[in-house]
Amino acid sequence: MIEKEEGREMETDRVKLAPSILAADFARLGEQVAEAEQAGADRIHVDVMDGHFVPNLSMGAPIVQSLRRVTRLPLEIHLMVSDPDLFLDEFVEAGSDSFLVHWEGNGNLHRTVQRIKALDKRAGVVINPATPAAVLEEILQDVEQVLIMTVNPGFGHQHFLPTTLPKIRRVRQMIEQIKPECDLEVDGGIDAETAPLAVAAGANVLVAGTAIFGESEGVAAAMNRLRASITMGKTTSTNLMTMTSAKE
Ligand code: DX5
Ligand code: ZN
Repeated sequence: MIEKEEGREMETDRVKLAPSILAADFARLGEQVAEAEQAGADRIHVDVMDGHFVPNLSMGAPIVQSLRRVTRLPLEIHLMVSDPDLFLDEFVEAGSDSFLVHWEGNGNLHRTVQRIKALDKRAGVVINPATPAAVLEEILQDVEQVLIMTVNPGFGHQHFLPTTLPKIRRVRQMIEQIKPECDLEVDGGIDAETAPLAVAAGANVLVAGTAIFGESEGVAAAMNRLRASITMGKTTSTNLMTMTSAKE
């Protein structure tokens, strides 16, 4: 379904879901990813943390290698590490399909993006909540994805920061002007309450960990609930846009 919102056509039915395995039960990881695939997940989001760029440790390339054997879904790697260039080859070898690299702390972001492209993988750039949208202007034409952090990176199960909504809208406008085919993804605190807000602001890919793997109802039911919230959000999105604009 196509509907008009803020002067642009938004295909809300085409919103993609990227379950983040950070919230999965690692003892049943293959099973949980298979459930997500069967329930129509579009890609699997893998959070890699080095305990330095963010104050937490998570997982490395061996997890990707194992997942590659159990799913055909694209595996997108969110690199929350101090030197992403060091890890690219290893993750490509393990079967990764795309890389999301942070603007923060990378003095040579353009070079990192070119390295990812030279490896024939999709490249995305990530910005933290305190980083302004404007830093994306020059790199946007070189990437296939932009990821806006809607929490501070490092941990799952945090609250969505509503102050990021105006930025999502600004980045959506920028994408429409510079590279309309670029994905606009959001990550952190996405659930049935916040997903419609992010989509109304212009996001077309939603990362969700806790809201998909942390629900007792199971992965498929949780994903259906998330999708239903987006569809229902369409009917109330005008009200929500008014509410959030008032806060700006
Ligand atoms: C946080 C990670 C997220 C995290 C999201 O640093 O980048 O991908 O897994 O988890 P939830 O959906 O639980 O906020
Ligand atoms: Zn992430």
